[in-house]
Amino acid sequence: MKRVAHKKPARKTWLVAVRKKLVAAAKTAQKNAYCPYSRYPVGAAVLMESGRTYTGCNVENASFGLACCAERTAIFNAVSHGEKKIRALALVAKSAKPCGACRQVIIEFACKDAEMIFVDWQPLEKKEKITYTKAARLLPKPFNPSEAGL
Ligand code: THU
Repeated sequence: MKRVAHKKPARKTWLVAVRKKLVAAAKTAQKNAYCPYSRYPVGAAVLMESGRTYTGCNVENASFGLACCAERTAIFNAVSHGEKKIRALALVAKSAKPCGACRQVIIEFACKDAEMIFVDWQPLEKKEKITYTKAARLLPKPFNPSEAGL
């Protein structure tokens, strides 16, 4: 019988495809941002262990402190669908950098080596700046549930 080689795609090829797909999904989500108070639309997309993608946008409120960031909306969307491991996350905003609270939430669910893609971009703009990093580099000394005995 002829042997068929099921070679796993090289990580680099995989990454290129993931980056493209996630950035497009985050840009689409950014269009749904509910941000009448800040006028600062943010979109996020997470690729989970299953291979499925979930998106989120920032959702504000007249009671300002109740706003939920796009990253957390996307992650809570994924978790609500039974997914718990983030393989990659894309964030799109004028200045795309997750806040401290979102960094802690990302770390809770990120798998080892999870890819972070930050895209400085806003609708109608031509130029974009993309930064790549790893989830493990987002937050020094994060709150660690096992150290806290939780
Ligand atoms: N925001 C996000 O959605 N993600 C971030 O990483 C930073 C801030 C939102 C919250 C608020 O709706 C608006 O951006 C301005 O702070």
